[in-house]
This record gives sequence, structure tokens and C-alpha cells, in this order.
Amino acid sequence: MENIGYYNGTFAPMEQLSIPALDRGVYFGDGVYEALRVERHRFFALKEHLSRFRDSLAFLRIAFPMTDEALTAILQEAADRVESDSQQLYFQVTRATAMRTHSFPDSCEANLLIFSRGVPLADQKEYRRVVVLPDTRWGHCNIKSLNLIPSVLAAETAKERGCSEAVFHRDGIVSECSSSNLLMLKDGALRTAPADERILPGVTRAHFLMLARELGIPVDETAFTLEEMLDADELMITSTSAHGLPVGFVDDKPVCGRDEALLRKLQKAYRAFFWSEIEANQ
Ligand code: PDD
Repeated sequence: MENIGYYNGTFAPMEQLSIPALDRGVYFGDGVYEALRVERHRFFALKEHLSRFRDSLAFLRIAFPMTDEALTAILQEAADRVESDSQQLYFQVTRATAMRTHSFPDSCEANLLIFSRGVPLADQKEYRRVVVLPDTRWGHCNIKSLNLIPSVLAAETAKERGCSEAVFHRDGIVSECSSSNLLMLKDGALRTAPADERILPGVTRAHFLMLARELGIPVDETAFTLEEMLDADELMITSTSAHGLPVGFVDDKPVCGRDEALLRKLQKAYRAFFWSEIEANQ
């Protein structure tokens, strides 16, 4: 199949899958999600994604009694139903199906929704354009909640301006992007905002930091300003689907391109790590 959807025990092509209107995800976005890569029908960094998923569930106080093993078996079945060797798998869990009242329903049974479809890995070569926008999201960006309106609007603004991403800032301090983290190379060191409530702790971000340390590249988890960003030697957008994409223009101003050797070294290390993990998941 080209793609697959799943909802509470039922598999169907995504376009044919329907869910109850009273799922609290529909009218409150009351749930959490994860998006991960599946290559040759094997997961990349599943453990890290499941760990972040459990943290998000705990923060929103959503009870999801299914074990990681049982969930993994369903995710695997979904991935196996799709022919593509290169998939992006999305899953979300919502609190319950119930009449609309803001407080939690008396009895909650969580809903599991899965989508998987063929999505090629991004081309890492080309320098991308980004637009800078104020970060108007809530105070818990470390939680992968379904409420993504500020990110959706920012991504649309980026698209309208011919950009790949929107970089968010709060009072001139860069946090991250609408659906990715932002890493900076300056004077041979890698710098990015700390994993606090202002950013999503990206699995890809963590892997880039780990690889940099292994390569002897100094790592600094201190947020940088917009000014510092414009003065970066290189900037990299990181996410599950992007891996690490270089940035060449910020608000139409040419930036970066001053330490391409180090940028390419990190990208190469990441891809090698990615494929070795896929191989190891046999
Ligand atoms: N986005 N920051 C935000 C706000 C994100 O939404 C994402 C992921 C990331 C990168 O996280 P990771 O490296 O774990 O993918 C950072 C996913 C891909 C999405 O929303 O579909």
C-alpha cells in the first residue's frame, strides 16, 4: 500500500480512515504526538521517541495503559503495510472520546491514531532560506502537544515568503523553528538553545550534540540572539525528516557559508550514524 492509517484497532488507507467527532483531539487538540523515520521498515531512534512521548503524556496527564512493546508491535504492523522503503510515521494519542467539557471526562479511554507514508529523506546539500518570526507559542514547547496553531501559521508565512522554515525568537533570543531545532556553528563550536520549556528537545538535536562531542567539537547549550545568529559561520535546521539542513538566507539576507567543511563533516557523521542505527535494528 502507498500509505496506511490506523485508529483504535482498525487499519485503512489514510484517505478512508475516519474517527469519531467526539475524539477530544478533534475539538481541543487534547493529545500528544510523535513523528519518526522508518527506513527499510525499521525504526530510527524509536526508544528516544517513545521516551519523549511518555514525558508528553505524563505532562498532559493522559492515561495510556498500552505498553511500549504492544505499541511498537502496532507501529511495526503499520509500517509493514506500506511498501515504501523510506517512510515518515506519525502517531498521536488523545485523552478520550467524550462530550465537550473542558475538564477531563470522568472516565477516559485514550485513542491511538497512526499514519505512515513514503516520504524521502531531505536533500542535505542545498542551503535553505528562513524567515524570522516572534515565538507566540505557549510556555511548554518541550511537550509535543497537538496544539500547533502558532507553528502552522509560521510555517505558512515561511512558505509564502519562499522559505523552508520560520525561526522563532522571544525578545531577540532564538528558541527554535516551527517544526525543527536550530543549531549554530561559530569559531569551530556548536551552539544551540538549552533543552528547557522554550524548545522541543529534538531527537535529532541530541544526536548532533552527541556526534559533535565524539568528534571533539566543543558544544555549548546556551541560547543565542538574533544578532549572533546573523553572524554565525553556519546554521543548521535539524529534525527527524530534515536531518541537518544548512541555512543560507535569513529574511532574504545572505548568511553563513563560512565553515562549510565543519558543516559537511557533521552532516556526514549524522547520516553514517543514522544508517548504522537502522542496520543495527535488524
Ligand atoms: N517536528 N522543534 C519542533 C517545534 C518540532 O516540531 C520538531 C519536530 C523538532 C525536531 O524534533 P526531532 O528531531 O525529534 O524530530 C524541533 C516533527 C518532525 C513534526 O512536527 O512533524
